[in-house]
Amino acid sequence: MTRRTSALYPMRTRHANPACELRVQTTLMETSSKLRHNVLIGYGSATGQAEDCADIIGDSLTAAGYHTHIVELNNVRRDPAFLRQFTLFVVVCSSSDDNDDHVPDNAAEFVDWLKFFPDLKNMPIALFTLGDSSYNGSFNAAGNLIENLLTQCGVKFTVPPGLADDEEGSPFEQLEPWVNNLSRTVKLAIPGSPMVHAEVGTPDITTDVA
Ligand SMILES: Cc1cc2nc3c(=O)[nH]c(=O)nc-3n(C[C@H](O)[C@H](O)[C@H](O)COP(=O)(O)O)c2cc1C
Repeated sequence: MTRRTSALYPMRTRHANPACELRVQTTLMETSSKLRHNVLIGYGSATGQAEDCADIIGDSLTAAGYHTHIVELNNVRRDPAFLRQFTLFVVVCSSSDDNDDHVPDNAAEFVDWLKFFPDLKNMPIALFTLGDSSYNGSFNAAGNLIENLLTQCGVKFTVPPGLADDEEGSPFEQLEPWVNNLSRTVKLAIPGSPMVHAEVGTPDITTDVA
């Protein structure tokens, strides 16, 4: 299905197909000056919980007036100039046993890139991670690693990083107050809030929606 975004109809775009993601990312680069109302949401997920959280965050920010783009973290273009075009970059990631870092396979390449400390100074980022405190010694290992790396890259966390612990119940219930706070904060604090700049318009992105 082909859809077009418009200023009047903010929408959530899910890019599940890597080829489609690459094409969309190229399109986004071409519309670089117009991305102020766009939020990129990247997720790393082994069994689907973090992916579902990314969808919930997407829904909330779409309702707040943003165009949201949801991709696996490995398919996020590893280019600071690209990332800086977005009003906000949201990272959602679980911990797994996929590798020594406990980062899910579909986020490992992105996390490895962060280890080179790309210049993300003052970039607005929000981080929500999932784990299980019964994993002694590696509780939220991927989340802690990503938070440390992002901090060393100089990012500015829009809201304090959030964490859901399986031992505390549903991750979606634990996500709710965090995402509500995020939506409130982006409306108020981030330059380019559609509530403030709706008349500027939104990028003219044509893409396939999975
Ligand atoms: C095989 C496996 C390994 C896990 N390893 C860790 C871990 O090392 N640390 C941690 O905090 N949670 C760990 N968890 C818990 C997950 O992070 C948690 O269940 C999370 O909600 C799963 O999200 P996901 O479905 O997006 O991967 C593990 C879960 C599984 C199934």
